[in-house]
Amino acid sequence: MSLPTSTLTVNDRAIEMPTKTGTIGPSVIDISKLYAQTGQFTYDPGFTSTASCESKITYIDGDEGVLLYRGYPIEQLAEHGDFLETCYLLLYGELPTAAQKADFDYRVTRHTMVHDQMNRFFQGFRRDAHPMAVMVASVGALSAFYHDSTDITDEKQRMVASMRMIAKMPTLAAMAYKYTIGQPFVYPKNDLDYTSNFLRMCFAVPCEEYQPNPVLSRALDRIFILHADHEQNASTSTVRLAGSSGANPFACIAAGIACLWGPAHGGANEAALKMLAEIGTPERVGEYVAKAKDKNDPFRLMGFGHRVYKNYDPRARIMQKTTHEVLSELGIKDDPLLDVAMELEQIALKDEYFIEKKLYPNIDFYSGITLKAMGFPTSMFTVLFALARTVGWISQWAEMIEDPSQKIGRPRQLYTGAPKRDYVTVAQRG
Ligand code: SDX
Repeated sequence: MSLPTSTLTVNDRAIEMPTKTGTIGPSVIDISKLYAQTGQFTYDPGFTSTASCESKITYIDGDEGVLLYRGYPIEQLAEHGDFLETCYLLLYGELPTAAQKADFDYRVTRHTMVHDQMNRFFQGFRRDAHPMAVMVASVGALSAFYHDSTDITDEKQRMVASMRMIAKMPTLAAMAYKYTIGQPFVYPKNDLDYTSNFLRMCFAVPCEEYQPNPVLSRALDRIFILHADHEQNASTSTVRLAGSSGANPFACIAAGIACLWGPAHGGANEAALKMLAEIGTPERVGEYVAKAKDKNDPFRLMGFGHRVYKNYDPRARIMQKTTHEVLSELGIKDDPLLDVAMELEQIALKDEYFIEKKLYPNIDFYSGITLKAMGFPTSMFTVLFALARTVGWISQWAEMIEDPSQKIGRPRQLYTGAPKRDYVTVAQRG
């Protein structure tokens, strides 16, 4: 049976290219031989119509607002499981049995400490350093400490590096936070679950016992599940591209953190909260919606819109519910930022501009309100995103390394610069 193909006519010549079909979602046209056959490249800035790889990890249907991790709907995972279960699922492809889950939790727990010389590493930063700058540096620096898990050709070393990344991100994130507020680092405790351990490392002080609030731990754990992976987003693509050169996993994750920092990507949760604070009251929402619609105004509604979701981001729905749960647990009756956010959502979802451009709240729209209520400063929001997304990055990195067809990523270009010309001495220049 002949394989399905697509035909492209280039300079009056029909070029047959294989069409590959996945489990669900759009098929792809394999253009890998196009340049050899035609001498031409495809052109797709921002990769709006380009599949960079084949993956079995996460599936998004942007029109339907569907997000599946290894086939399981995000709503069900967020409702029934915990973050480490999601980590196991993303890494290994199946939900763990009780024994597998217990073993995985045990292994992660015992990798949560960082090399104690990392403490001195932090001392080099100014106290007012942005925690994301600290995270990019400290995660990249892990490759200076853990030489026994940087050989990417060794499956065992790849798994150890993966466990170390998942386990140490909360510890490094908490250290980044403590350092900026001038409080001593708090070491992890093995008798706490993953997210309670993180909350304690962030908010405990040596002067008194700290008991994590189970409702807040559960809420933050769910927020981590929502952020764990998201197909070939900008930071995941960055990790894959860095990994395709054979760079060690710590360096690849550091590259992903750097990319996530941008306000168009993971930095949007910090930017969204700043925007809500700038709007200040529900009465001023209309003024900002008008700015967002004004072609001559670069202002955008942060936390709105998405490259893939042209429907409500399913994570935003769960995020909104979690926001109300956290505010209620903390006894916060009326949060002015939430009032502004709810008014903004109401107005935008009825506005022709947003309807026509299919702009809906994304995961970053409500997360900031929740994290602020939990006690995190705005500068830590993207750090928490990076903490959660680490398992997605490392799972996608491992999938790429294990893909027999993978090769170094090296896109081409459309050159519109100067044609070839001879050197002119400075005496001959005008
Ligand atoms: C994340 O890729 C992922 O999966 C990312 C992520 C993940 O989990 O990894 O989901 C996490 O990054 C979520 C997105 C967080 N970013 C923001 O909230 C920043 C605000 N949103 C945007 O800047 C924008 O919507 C993007 C970057 C998210 C998506 O941009 P696209 O797909 O390149 O779309 P675009 O910029 O071409 O916009 C399409 C149109 C434009 O109008 P026209 O030029 O066609 O007239 O919609 C407009 C834009 O001006 N538009 C907005 C808008 N977002 C898009 N107008 C006002 N406010 C906005 N937020």
